[in-house]
Amino acid sequence: MNNFNFYSPTYFVFGKGKENETGKYVKRFGGTRVLIHYGSGSVMKSGLLDRVKKSLTESDIWFTELGGVVPNPRSGLVYEGIEICKHENIDFVLAVGGGSVIDSAKAIALGALYDGDFWDFYTGKQYVKKALPVGTILTLTAAGSEGSSGSVITHENGMLKRATGGDAMRPAFSILNPELTCSLPPYQTACGATDMMAHVMERYFTNTRNVEITDRLCEGILLTVINEAPKALTNPDDYEARANLMWAGMVAHNDTCGVGRDSDWSSHQMEHELSGLYDVAHGAGLAVMFPAWMKYVMHHDLNRFAQFAVRVWGCEMDFQNPEKTAIQGIQRYEQFVSSLGMPIRFSQLGAKAVDIPTLVKSMGLGKNTLGSFVKLTSEDVTKIYQLAV
Ligand code: NZQ
Ligand code: ZN
Repeated sequence: MNNFNFYSPTYFVFGKGKENETGKYVKRFGGTRVLIHYGSGSVMKSGLLDRVKKSLTESDIWFTELGGVVPNPRSGLVYEGIEICKHENIDFVLAVGGGSVIDSAKAIALGALYDGDFWDFYTGKQYVKKALPVGTILTLTAAGSEGSSGSVITHENGMLKRATGGDAMRPAFSILNPELTCSLPPYQTACGATDMMAHVMERYFTNTRNVEITDRLCEGILLTVINEAPKALTNPDDYEARANLMWAGMVAHNDTCGVGRDSDWSSHQMEHELSGLYDVAHGAGLAVMFPAWMKYVMHHDLNRFAQFAVRVWGCEMDFQNPEKTAIQGIQRYEQFVSSLGMPIRFSQLGAKAVDIPTLVKSMGLGKNTLGSFVKLTSEDVTKIYQLAV
């Protein structure tokens, strides 16, 4: 196991009706002038936004609001939010929504304390040191941004989808009420399950040895999602399934199961190019890219893929032919996400083989490599995209 530091200071408030206590938690984390940030309407339709405002009002907290975040959140609204923060002396950003809203809120919180262009953090010109505190009320279990240090934004100039991260961006608190996720359309529930599985698998396929504790945590989360996601799709109001998924999504990505081991985010980066270019749902893009990546790299460590097949998918180990077991595991994963209603090929996603050079170019690898489990050149990345066609 590698040495590690782990700092995950988010205060989680989990359970039914907990959004009604928002004011109490904003106060607890020092908020007095709040920017409420939300998406394109689901929080108004459900009445959640009204409940949150009521709670802030009851706690005598001043607020203003900025809605309109779209999936694969854009830079334009971030610039607008930063202006509001500076102009109104905002000291707390409250995200009410899914991963896109939370990521946009984090970007605003970052830019509010920076004199330059917030995009500098997403291009690597600046490192994250400070940001306004962010609180979240999560409505979609998927991205894990409610507990993560990351944020992913698409710049409208070139539609470049880029990520940044730093401990200062971890939410101060996150309210997780599984009931809020019952209104999710089946496609979003499935995208969410696929995304959280990917967060675990990006950590699972590692070159680090003797990481049994995190291997087992990863396997436990994957087994939970495999068990609970179909229940939530069959019965969207199944509170227990939603609750298990909600916490699984958080632990999948706050790095509990990534500490002490190298992780490999190649599939995420290849997906970010897809959702940057085609504006598809992140989880759906991962369902297409992850099996392709697995097929391409599995020979690097057949035993690890066979372990995945046996422990997660219940495949029988073929000691004479571990490759057979490894392939079975990948097939079972592909069948599972497909059974959830996810695309597994470029055409199902609306992506085109002719755009592969554009996707690779946009990634800007140059002579560098991508990933750590297997270090991929631009040529490898091209071949993986081709495997997904
Ligand atoms: O905008 P509204 O009206 O709220 O509708 C949203 C949106 O259309 C809807 N929705 C959310 N909660 C709902 C609901 N509809 C009905 N009932 C509810 N309770 O769902 C749609 C998708 O929302 P979005 O926030 O885009 O989805 P998700 O949570 O999957 O977030 C995806 C974004 O997160 C990024 C992705 O790249 C993508 O941009 N990621 C962020 C990460 C992080 N910060 O750590 C890591 C991830 O790997 C990921 O890259
Ligand atoms: Zn993801």
